[in-house]
Amino acid sequence: MNLQLDEHGRLRHFLSTEGLPRELLTQILDTAESFSGVIGKSVKKVPLLRGRTVMNLFFEASTRTRTTFELAAKRLSADVINMDISTSSAVKGESLLDTLRNLEAMQCDMFVVRHGDSGAAHFIARHALPGVSVINAGDGRHAHPTQAMLDMFTIRRHKGEFEPLRIAIVGDILHSRVARSQIHALNGLGAGEVRVIAPRTLLPRQVEDLGVHVYYDIDQGLRDVDVIIMLRLQKERMAGALLPSESEYFRRYGLSAERVALAKPDAIVMHPGPTNRGVEIEAGVADGPQSVILEQVTNGIAVRMAVMSLAMGATGERA
Ligand code: NCD
Repeated sequence: MNLQLDEHGRLRHFLSTEGLPRELLTQILDTAESFSGVIGKSVKKVPLLRGRTVMNLFFEASTRTRTTFELAAKRLSADVINMDISTSSAVKGESLLDTLRNLEAMQCDMFVVRHGDSGAAHFIARHALPGVSVINAGDGRHAHPTQAMLDMFTIRRHKGEFEPLRIAIVGDILHSRVARSQIHALNGLGAGEVRVIAPRTLLPRQVEDLGVHVYYDIDQGLRDVDVIIMLRLQKERMAGALLPSESEYFRRYGLSAERVALAKPDAIVMHPGPTNRGVEIEAGVADGPQSVILEQVTNGIAVRMAVMSLAMGATGERA
């Protein structure tokens, strides 16, 4: 059985977009849509998680993801605690399991976990007490499912149905948990064609098995796409010399205005952030009329509200 679902097939933990039924992915997007109305109002709160405690466990640095999880929890009226683990017990040698048990002893209802190791959120979910939910906020190179869902939300808002769409994901696929989660979500939602565009050194082996078309030439790969998703070069995860130089990378794979023009005229340009301007994307494109990069950030709040409330069974459907 999928660790993420309860015996009725409802969301209990949100660890990965892989293998989730289409109805559930759509339910997350629809629920987020209803919350985005709340966010537009002057009073931005709903009482769905009143009295519940959410703990943000960040073993790795983050700005956007942590802040939008915190805002999402607050807008659902939960109590939120932010733990920056890199400055606490982990440094003193406490194991992940010990940390978990201690935090559970404080009667916390949900853990939002970011960790540098792939599988960390799954580990916590496997060991969590009944009734405690775990949300993966990024684990190693493995998965970043709420980022993928906020990207799906942004795509759906601009483009409607997924079936007719051609989507290109460009750049450092090898190190990207975001790309992996996006590919599973896009395929789960029935997207027409998913392309990955990257140099061979930045592609995982057998990437085709994920259900994508591979392009090594960006000018070919961008032709007639509806959505361009750029990825950050994850220099901190690169062990050896995978690239000639940043300027050479930009010349071969950087998104310039000329390259955007190869896609459909109404194509949108996305990036999960943080962007390296002049390395993977030209500043004028990141700030240009086709860019939806800041909308992605805003949409992160509604999507994280949706995932948190569904996992806690608080949307009313589960009562
Ligand atoms: C991504 C991450 O941390 O995986 N960023 C994010 O969540 N906004 C992508 C990245 O770091 O490049």
